[in-house]
Amino acid sequence: MDYAATREDALAQIAAAQDLGTLETLRVGFLGKQGSISGLLKTLGGMLPEERQQVGPQIHALRESVSEALAARKDALEAAALAQRLAGETVDLTLPAPEAPRGSIHPVSQVMDELAEIFADMGFAVATGPEIEDDWHNFGALNIPESHPARAMHDTFYFPDQDGEGRAMLLRTHTSPVQIRAMLAQGAPIRIIAPGRVYRSDSDATHTPMFHQVEGLVIDKGIHLGHLKWTLETFLKAFFERDDIVLRLRPSYFPFTEPSVEVDVGFAIVGGKRVLGGSGDAPGHGWMELLGSGMVNRKVIAAGGLDPDEWQGFAFGAGIDRLAMLKYGMDDLRAFFDGDARWNRHYGFNPNDVPTLSGGVGTAA
Ligand code: PHE
Repeated sequence: MDYAATREDALAQIAAAQDLGTLETLRVGFLGKQGSISGLLKTLGGMLPEERQQVGPQIHALRESVSEALAARKDALEAAALAQRLAGETVDLTLPAPEAPRGSIHPVSQVMDELAEIFADMGFAVATGPEIEDDWHNFGALNIPESHPARAMHDTFYFPDQDGEGRAMLLRTHTSPVQIRAMLAQGAPIRIIAPGRVYRSDSDATHTPMFHQVEGLVIDKGIHLGHLKWTLETFLKAFFERDDIVLRLRPSYFPFTEPSVEVDVGFAIVGGKRVLGGSGDAPGHGWMELLGSGMVNRKVIAAGGLDPDEWQGFAFGAGIDRLAMLKYGMDDLRAFFDGDARWNRHYGFNPNDVPTLSGGVGTAA
């Protein structure tokens, strides 16, 4: 047997190994239990003493040099891998500073943050509910029975299938179902706002199939319309950052409130534009419809699992997109959801400017 040739061949293979995996395969092939060199060592036992004396040292020398070559190649491959990693992680400190971070807070998110901040100061928590609702939470529990014309008015997107309890499934048409969910989940008293997405099959410059509302709900003892008016006035003054906001409450109708109140806000015409503030009855002024509200209907309080003789409350619902348009001056709602980066840059807010009552809830970016 030509041990020198075997040695040359093994060392060449080891030198050619380009990665640690290949090297390990070679090691097992030579020196593992079933390895070729291990096999040679095993033949020593069956040899005559003279033969073993002559061949033994050659096989041991072969194993020695292969094992040394493997170790050396392993060190070299590991060093190369480390060098490559270090080269890839180089930081060039002479490069110019990166551009200012891109991206901005969407006006809808900004207004939601402002609402949470303003209402938190009045003791309101933020509640949420699912956008995929069943018709009991969205309609039935809110005193809108099957045949009620309001169901048709809401232009509802229905799902083809019902839920496990045989209820029709739909995309919620308003945030009012969160009233029911809040009452059932936490009982009374309650002070919450519930901002979120709502859906109606409707589309023009001021309507998109998806838009945003904020629901307000207060349930407690001895709550009356005066509390509603004070709350809305305090909220709107803080939101629009004007002390001269004037509200007008008009009788209205919603199945889930009784009495129901439509809230208008006074505006002045300044340079051809509507600017909120002042009485809408003054010359050159007008009233703009802002939100729906009222005292929570007894039937709704009962559907929420509470005793209407013990608990009263008020609720309101306002369009968040509309609040944003009034405050920040956009005039086409559809642009809110186009994802045009130029619009986002223009109307977006600096992520570091978190709205606070002390710092200002609405300083434009
Ligand atoms: N849910 C009503 C709507 O979508 C608004 C509203 C909420 C009215 C709460 C009264 C009370 O138009």
